[in-house]
Amino acid sequence: MAGSLTWEVADGIAVVTFDLPGEPVNKITQAVKEEFIATFETLGRDPEVNAVAFFSGKRDAFIAGADIEEFVAITTAAEAERLSAGGQAMLERVARFAKPVAVGIHGACLGGGLEFALACHYRVATDHPKTQLGLPEVQLGILPGAGGCQRLPRLIGARAALDMILAGKTERAAKAFRLGIVDELVPPPILRDITVGAARRMAGGWRPRRRRSGGALGWLLDGNPLGRRLVFRAARRQVLATTRGNYPAPLAALEAVEYGLRHGMAEGLKREAQLFGQLAVTDVSRKLVQIFFATTQLKKDFGISNPPKPVEVRRLAIVGAGFMGAGIAGTAVVQAGVDVRMKDADLARVAKGLVAAREILDDRLKRRRITRYEHARLVALLSGDDRYTGFGRAELVIEAVFEDLAVKQQVLREVEAAVSDGAVFASNTSTIPIARIAEVARRAERVIGMHFFSPVARMPLLEVIPSERTAPEVISTAVAFGRRMGKTAVVVRDRPGFWVNRILAPYMNEAGHLLLEGAAIDELDRLMVSWGFPVGPITLLDEVGLDVAEKASGVLHAAFGERLAAAPAFSKLVQDGRLGRKAGRGFYRYGGGRKRGVDPAVSELLGIHPNGGPHAAEIIQRLVLVMLNEAARAVGEGVVRAPRDGDIAAIFGFGFPPFRGGPLRHADDLGAARLVGELERLAERHGGRFTPCDVLVEQARRGSKFYL
Ligand code: 3HC
Repeated sequence: MAGSLTWEVADGIAVVTFDLPGEPVNKITQAVKEEFIATFETLGRDPEVNAVAFFSGKRDAFIAGADIEEFVAITTAAEAERLSAGGQAMLERVARFAKPVAVGIHGACLGGGLEFALACHYRVATDHPKTQLGLPEVQLGILPGAGGCQRLPRLIGARAALDMILAGKTERAAKAFRLGIVDELVPPPILRDITVGAARRMAGGWRPRRRRSGGALGWLLDGNPLGRRLVFRAARRQVLATTRGNYPAPLAALEAVEYGLRHGMAEGLKREAQLFGQLAVTDVSRKLVQIFFATTQLKKDFGISNPPKPVEVRRLAIVGAGFMGAGIAGTAVVQAGVDVRMKDADLARVAKGLVAAREILDDRLKRRRITRYEHARLVALLSGDDRYTGFGRAELVIEAVFEDLAVKQQVLREVEAAVSDGAVFASNTSTIPIARIAEVARRAERVIGMHFFSPVARMPLLEVIPSERTAPEVISTAVAFGRRMGKTAVVVRDRPGFWVNRILAPYMNEAGHLLLEGAAIDELDRLMVSWGFPVGPITLLDEVGLDVAEKASGVLHAAFGERLAAAPAFSKLVQDGRLGRKAGRGFYRYGGGRKRGVDPAVSELLGIHPNGGPHAAEIIQRLVLVMLNEAARAVGEGVVRAPRDGDIAAIFGFGFPPFRGGPLRHADDLGAARLVGELERLAERHGGRFTPCDVLVEQARRGSKFYL
């Protein structure tokens, strides 16, 4: 096998290049580890070499970490512990290497890649946006197991290190520089010279002097045992509040850091490897790794075989300057850098939409994601009107008007009259079939659905919905543009509610039934949050807007009958003007931008007396199983092309607990036979909406699953 490490020696400096053959990114495999050891041994012996300067040979990627596929293949904790200890031993050799090592970082420097850089003696990084440094291991259900839990806190202090490790955050190079992870920040063209220069200076006896940032407070909290104890106590509290005991990795990482600071590096490394071993074989880690690979596959999947080249979108036009339209506009400008033209019925609405879109840009500036200069340039890309001016030059038009078939069809007619023949028309409908909207189209093959989630700037999912008549080029264009907007795009079939709203509807409805049976509003939310959702069903309703939910539910009820009829509770709230957070009142009260607790008036309005309702276990069971049943049914109808798509869309669309792997993985874990049995029991007691669907019945009969 061709080697991945090559080097040349000039003027006493060995310039080493890491370029894993045949792979898009560098990763540290077992074979690479051995090569590293052999290379450093050779360089150590070579009298010509006084110092080492280390680079990646990949264009925009440094090292993506340990090879995830390798540790997924491991079946025992002991084996995983050995893998981690092996990585640590290799990096110990680098850290103790008799000759100084400077590393030049450009592109992603993650996990084991950053751990390697931390073991080197000097770190230079480019100020390029692709240069990101981080320890994302906890997002895979493991912890930094090649010394990261030891070296990072020693370099930048426990507080800053925990902040990065426990959230699995990656930071841009500028931030990493401020934190003290990187010694020097440079533009890409001079990375090589500066790194080699640093290696040469170190060979001549110079040593970098590092001062930890954080000032007196930093010293108080990081520099003495009492302060540190406070830091760990606060971090532990925060981890428990966010993971609710569902994710073991952050707590284990915290322990590895704390243990190492208390007992020294060698003991710390040992504990780190043990904990890594335990975590690597947990079911949670398996699920999170599956999500990583599924998301990676989706980055390349256009939802059709032999996808044609997408139309390059340079100008985007948006009809509807409301909350969604403005969200799409701001995100498109920030992420894709396209020219955006907004249109609404009157100029006041357009102006409001432009202001809201601009807020997304302002927020990026505030969080230092873009510079002042970029901000000014991006703001200039936003424009609007109350007529279709400028639409003739747009390659893509996204409609984000009121969720009503007649209104959407009217907009489609008007847009077709204003755009060029090749333009793509995408509807941001959440439930209405695209084929219905396209019934009035002159060019139905250019019509597609692009269903964004609210708030657009933050929600990572895009459902792309071609109708039977949509041209393949239009599908690849919608997917490609969604990706440019930073979204994970999943292509789903044109059925009412598509995938996400289809499986959410019965879950929301069940919450309504449970309320009427006496379950308390905040108890329903609390139970589902502890089950792993980011928010409970009632809060979700308030966030989505009860009027929006009512509309969606009307479409689904009409399409699928009684099974998806909305619980009677919701329309009463809409009639009372309780539209959710946006109206300042829904199930909860809102004030000053914050949720203020359950509104007692709701029980009165609905004529209910909260008495606790069914047992907690039954509440969870009903809410979960009704969703799994609908998901299975939708799979049977081909709404998603593969279970992978259904699971990723549920996780990214509404936060189905990632550690459960998605509704279809969870259904597999429970097993069809058990699911069918429990659904039948629920159907007997609560009616036909629980009748197990054919897909599950068939799976139970044959002993099959969604995933092979
Ligand atoms: N292990 C195995 N494969 C990896 C990998 C890794 N660490 N990182 C990336 N890949 C693979 C991807 O699966 C993909 O494979 P494919 O071409 O066969 O589909 C290929 O490399 C390219 O990846 P992307 O499509 O994701 O490329 P991008 O340019 O969009 O993104 C990236 C690059 C930012 C590096 C992204 O791939 C990424 O985030 N990778 C994972 C980083 C990570 O989690 N590292 C920690 C690993 S665990 C670890 O280091 C443990 C240690 O502490 C002991």
